[in-house]
Amino acid sequence: MQNYKDVLSEILIDAETLQARVRELGAQISLDYPDGDLLLICILRGGVPFMVDLSRSITSPHMMDFMAVSSYGVGARESTGSARVTLDLQTDIRGKNVLLVEDIIDSGHTIASVLNMLKTRNPKTLKVCALLDKPERREAEVPIHYLGFSIPNKFVFGYGLDLDEYYRNLTFVGVVDLDKYKPSV
Ligand code: IMP
Ligand code: MG
Repeated sequence: MQNYKDVLSEILIDAETLQARVRELGAQISLDYPDGDLLLICILRGGVPFMVDLSRSITSPHMMDFMAVSSYGVGARESTGSARVTLDLQTDIRGKNVLLVEDIIDSGHTIASVLNMLKTRNPKTLKVCALLDKPERREAEVPIHYLGFSIPNKFVFGYGLDLDEYYRNLTFVGVVDLDKYKPSV
């Protein structure tokens, strides 16, 4: 795999700006859920770095769980319209305050499917916290209760977001130059 520098066209959100915004979101969530009655649900894998940092900036007690859904075909970068649960929660969410933590809302199909599925399990409340939003690409209407940044319609990577599963570890969000990218398979 190429070094990220060879496929980076520009840094869209630097590490310091990301961390500052995540702290703000954490502070807001702490105020909104003061009673220690909150379950964060991370959507694997892109939501991991965001959820870890967010959780550490939430001062009220909370729980965490993880789920995985597949909305993209293998090697595809576009949502197909419906999401399949590939790893389910360990927690019974009935009666709980649930906050879904997602890296990016693009077409909206992934989060819309997850919300529909989780609603049937009767949580007390069900809200969405997304690091990034690409509003120009929206096809399915979804509520975003907490948002890090609204971004233009560009393919981005880093801070959880991948390019063919690589580069999730980067501490910033960068724009991919797809002309320079040479897929290894
Ligand atoms: P949606 O179903 O179209 O909203 O797709 C959401 C999912 O697509 C996210 O959880 C990401 O995994 C992925 N995705 C969308 N845009 C990007 C991007 O620019 N870079 C990396 N992954 C993306
Ligand atoms: Mg992804």
